[in-house]
Amino acid sequence: MNNDELVKTAQAMMASGKGLLAMDESNPTCNRRFAALNIPQTPEMRRAYRDLIVMTPGLGDCISGAILFDETIRQKTNNGTEFAEALQQAHIIPGIKVDLGARELAAFPGEKITEGLDGLATRVREYVKMGARFAKWRAVITIGNGIPTAGCIDANAHMLARYAAICQDGGLVPIVEPEVLMDGSHDLARCAAVTAEVLHAVFDQLYLQRVILEATILKPNMVLAGLSCPDQPGVDQVADATVTCLLRNVPAAVGGIAFLSGGQPAQSASSRLNAMNVRWASKMPWPLTFSFSRAIQKPALDIWAGKEANVPAAQQALLHRARCNSQARQGRYKPELEKPVL
Ligand code: 13P
Repeated sequence: MNNDELVKTAQAMMASGKGLLAMDESNPTCNRRFAALNIPQTPEMRRAYRDLIVMTPGLGDCISGAILFDETIRQKTNNGTEFAEALQQAHIIPGIKVDLGARELAAFPGEKITEGLDGLATRVREYVKMGARFAKWRAVITIGNGIPTAGCIDANAHMLARYAAICQDGGLVPIVEPEVLMDGSHDLARCAAVTAEVLHAVFDQLYLQRVILEATILKPNMVLAGLSCPDQPGVDQVADATVTCLLRNVPAAVGGIAFLSGGQPAQSASSRLNAMNVRWASKMPWPLTFSFSRAIQKPALDIWAGKEANVPAAQQALLHRARCNSQARQGRYKPELEKPVL
């Protein structure tokens, strides 16, 4: 694949009024969410849940691309269509999570490194044949006492850049996701400082590894106070801290920015994304949208609860959150859009 096609795919992922849907929870993560709702943790239930999502009528009006897990891209919808093909039929670009998860970083207690570079070029070739057009790799950075260390940030940044270069070489647009976690009691300023340091290291490494920025999507955390910080900032404060941090550390050439939700309440994620697009629209060199998993899926998963009869109501809830975030991506979201039942 040539670079022009990669750039075109990145642009299509950032299509006006749309965002990305992360539905690539690994089996352990998906099983944990199922277990909390007493849903059987089987390949068939995971498939049925992904069928519910992909077959939601109208999803392609708000969602430009969906990220699948390895198990899902090998499964079929209820009507026997491969998931990647079903997404294309819904005008949604299929993507694939290619990292193999975060593990303890040797010699750095409390910190993690994401694995999956071994054999990646071969897997990328296989995923392209299966219809995937973009990929995702998530690195995890924890804020705590004396962490993150430079050792952890640099190791993760290097892996992200090697992954991105391998994907572009094989024909996939890389989503580069360095997630600074919300867990902890740190304040907004500390999250801003750590996010800046991480982004700086990531773009240094992307440059060194010759990654084409125009064919790369950044998936960052929003700049937030830690979950247990007593001083919680307002929506506009989060929007300003986040965009300021991005403007200082993300080159203008990057194809687009699509946030993770990180466990924020669904409506907060929409309000904060909206505020960024309202307050900073004229200053931003890149499109700013969403690549949420929990902030789109959670209400739908709660309603579905593993029961066939609940599928239509769950699909409605999913579409509702996708529409709210589509509005937020355009700076048109209003809390009144939220229906009381959701
Ligand atoms: P959340 O939106 O639930 O944080 O998930 C996004 C994601 O894809 C994590 O890798």
